[in-house]
Amino acid sequence: MSAPKSAGYVTDVAYVPGFYQHLAPRAMRHVALLNRIVPPAVADGFRYLELGCGLGRTLTTLAAANPQGTFTGVDINPQHTAQIAHDIEIGALSNARIVTSDFSQLPDDLRDLDFITLHGVWSWVAPDVRADILRIASERLAPGGLLLVSYNAMPGWAHLQPIRGILRQYASLRQGDSAQRARDAVNYLAYMRDQKAKYFVDNPNAATYVDTIRGQDPRYLAHEYLNEHWTSFYFADVAGQFADAGLNFVGSLPVHTNFWDLCVAPVFHDLFRTTTNRLVTEAHKDFCANTMFRWDLYGKQPTLLPDVATRIRVADDLWFRNPKPGVQLPITVNLGVVNSTVDGGLYAALLGMLAGRGMRMSEIIADPRLSSSSDTEIAKAVDAGVGMQLFEVSTGPVLEIDRSAAATRIGMPSAFNRAILAAELFGGRGVPLASATSGSAMTLGDLDAAILSTWLDEGNDDLAAAVDALMTRRDRVINHEGQPITDPAERRSRLATACDSFRANVLPILEEQGIVVREG
Ligand SMILES: C[S@@+](CC[C@H](N)C(=O)[O-])C[C@H]1O[C@@H](n2cnc3c(N)ncnc32)[C@H](O)[C@@H]1O
Repeated sequence: MSAPKSAGYVTDVAYVPGFYQHLAPRAMRHVALLNRIVPPAVADGFRYLELGCGLGRTLTTLAAANPQGTFTGVDINPQHTAQIAHDIEIGALSNARIVTSDFSQLPDDLRDLDFITLHGVWSWVAPDVRADILRIASERLAPGGLLLVSYNAMPGWAHLQPIRGILRQYASLRQGDSAQRARDAVNYLAYMRDQKAKYFVDNPNAATYVDTIRGQDPRYLAHEYLNEHWTSFYFADVAGQFADAGLNFVGSLPVHTNFWDLCVAPVFHDLFRTTTNRLVTEAHKDFCANTMFRWDLYGKQPTLLPDVATRIRVADDLWFRNPKPGVQLPITVNLGVVNSTVDGGLYAALLGMLAGRGMRMSEIIADPRLSSSSDTEIAKAVDAGVGMQLFEVSTGPVLEIDRSAAATRIGMPSAFNRAILAAELFGGRGVPLASATSGSAMTLGDLDAAILSTWLDEGNDDLAAAVDALMTRRDRVINHEGQPITDPAERRSRLATACDSFRANVLPILEEQGIVVREG
């Protein structure tokens, strides 16, 4: 085996960890089903490969949440893979494996894969590396397997591309590692903007964008902007390349992007209604929505599902649930571009039915409360409801918990979750905790993570005081309206409110998801 080839990709600084729920098998399988494609079966095990898995937070969390699957991550950066090997060991993840390699020389046993994912890779690597990825997809994905690829998209990036060019050029003149050079380059960009360089005057969105990247972690900026081969792609070009490798476009994430009426303004709806070619629809949708990032799902030799009855016969192992039982219709949601209003008897019935532990599609369709709607109408309403975040999709029903008694002693059974909570506490990125009930993870904000950690370590007596002490030890402030609270009494009172909210709203979900259990 020859030394791995970075092909112009940044390797001198490690990336930042992140959990991306779209990479979960449950999410990919649901998108396949709603697009009438048979997804890989998972009940008796499956094989999952993540290419360019970075620090592996998604890979290891999904391994913890899907114990029946075998998860392999490949990354060229040994700093990344050493961290992942450590997480696998302390999390006792016997179903996860990490390989340090470029994509041209994968281990031979990585074949017949059910899922291949690559997030934050396609737009950032050299054309040769993209060719390696296409070869892997073509040769190693099993028939019926699914591949998820994310990339920077056109036309959303059109007016921002020059920013990347000037950032990289300026950074190459600076000293230090890639993170230091990225930081210097962003400061230079802010100077240009503040001094009214004409590019920024003519492109106000680019001027605003400088503030977005100024707040980002320099390690993220280095990996995002300093790679030699950075390209944003039109959907049609990516779809064409995957078609040449024998993979067909199946759909996209987030779920609402599969419903064009949730993505483009009503004035365009008649135009879209008359277009039957999905590839054309996608390209025009990106234009109407000025899409700058895509998560696309491809299938190898996908099998079409003719109707909802066949869908249910083939794969009825996803559960749908309304996580906010009190919600009242009508509801208006905005998923980026358009306001969509949800109303009507079908949704009213679904919101009520799904407010419990969740139901499978077969149970929903058979329910007498929906007898006036057809199978197709019901399935579409459920799937679009997931898109509009009215319903959640999971690999199992939530666990039944006793809400009548207050919890006192709690435990977190997963060694992996305990390790991640300790490692990510106050990291500013949220703490993803794996759930075998949902097949994915629940991400806690910093304060909720601090409350959970304190309760697990020190119990529930005087919780706010213990959280206050932890935050003081770790030099953490609590902000109110953007300002740190300096008065100790006010700080304690706000922490007490946060602890009450955690008990009432967060702990029950952690219990339902099997992440936390009551003890004693
Ligand atoms: C932007 S990061 C994304 C990491 C991860 N998927 C995430 O979203 O957190 C891209 C990753 O691809 C890896 N990578 C880049 N080129 C590679 C190659 N030729 N072979 C293997 N890994 C590569 C990098 O080391 C890096 O970890």
